[in-house]
Amino acid sequence: MTRVALIGLGAMGRNHLRLLSDLEGVELVAVCDQSQVAVASAIAKHGVAGYSSWDDMLDKEKLDAAVVAVPTRFHVAAGLAALGRGLHVLVEKPIAPTLDEGRHLVQTAHDRHLVLAVGHVERFNPAVRELVRRVAAGEVGRIFQIHARRQGPFPARIRDVGVVIDLATHDLDVMYKLAGSEVERLYAETEQRIHTEHEDILNALLKFQTEMLGVLQVNWLTPTKIREMSVLGDKGMLVCNFLTQELTSFKNADIKAEAVIEGESLALPITKAEPLKLELEAFVAAIRGEAPIEVDGEAGLRALHLALALVTSAAEARVIARPELEAQWRGESQPPGGRPATRTRR
Ligand SMILES: NC(=O)c1ccc[n+]([C@@H]2O[C@H](COP(=O)([O-])OP(=O)(O)OC[C@H]3O[C@@H](n4cnc5c(N)ncnc54)[C@H](O)[C@@H]3O)[C@@H](O)[C@H]2O)c1
Repeated sequence: MTRVALIGLGAMGRNHLRLLSDLEGVELVAVCDQSQVAVASAIAKHGVAGYSSWDDMLDKEKLDAAVVAVPTRFHVAAGLAALGRGLHVLVEKPIAPTLDEGRHLVQTAHDRHLVLAVGHVERFNPAVRELVRRVAAGEVGRIFQIHARRQGPFPARIRDVGVVIDLATHDLDVMYKLAGSEVERLYAETEQRIHTEHEDILNALLKFQTEMLGVLQVNWLTPTKIREMSVLGDKGMLVCNFLTQELTSFKNADIKAEAVIEGESLALPITKAEPLKLELEAFVAAIRGEAPIEVDGEAGLRALHLALALVTSAAEARVIARPELEAQWRGESQPPGGRPATRTRR
């Protein structure tokens, strides 16, 4: 049995709570939240030990691992507290608000030979897994463009980071995985319309070293939830709906003639499953040494790095190119983490 503690019982933490309390091979031992109501409810429902301080919990309980689901600004403090006591950690995405903090977490896990997984849950979405598998198998041919749309209403509870760090990191993570290439340059426009601290709408363009284009349209201002990614190549296009876990293939009927002709479209079979459950199972498998870490600290840092570069690009109204991106990645030039972008209000 892997003995796990959960830090944070908010909107996301409650999903971890539900799944961890019923996960094979896992004993959910204790939970922690500064909300007494949340802790009392978890104790009553799941018979776990409850705490208001993660330090108290980590000192008192005998544990193997911790899941960190407090707001992003506390990820590093909570993560370090757990790693410092020799526990494996699954930290919610984004790994941290700044690259330096994220690096500290990654380095600590590395030095202590502990698993650090980052909760980029879309990677465990069965439709995304199938998309990644088919793209890697060459099904769309040479990739021309990846277009991600992640739009929806404003979640009032997210106050510490803007929509680029909170949401675009999901798509940057999947896009980077699919592209298999570094970003050559990027440019973004953001606006702050409703959010009191940060940007809430992003339109971004990335050019990868393979000449593939990445297009990101992400916001908290759309009155319906859209989560979609299309991968377009010379052989056709795959369209993934993250919400419904549907994947559709559109073939280019005439690739030999170097034309683009509408070919057959096909809804591909997907075995639906809850991505967060698959993420937690993968975390436990990595702890037991049964499988590699699927989304590790470095993947979390890569997504955060690109998101911060987009924030900088928008704030400074300029293209950010490879040499600067490399310097940021090496820690020689720091993108200003979580800094508010364009401050125009509606
Ligand atoms: N993977 C995903 O798709 C996904 C979705 C939503 C949120 N998240 C991530 O999960 C994290 C939490 O987001 P949320 O939406 O659940 O936020 P939330 O505000 O609903 O929940 C945060 C919880 O942390 C508790 N908390 C805050 N500070 C604390 C402290 N110092 N000690 C103990 N408890 C503390 C709060 O009381 C609250 O219950 C964020 O990092 C967010 O990015 C990920």
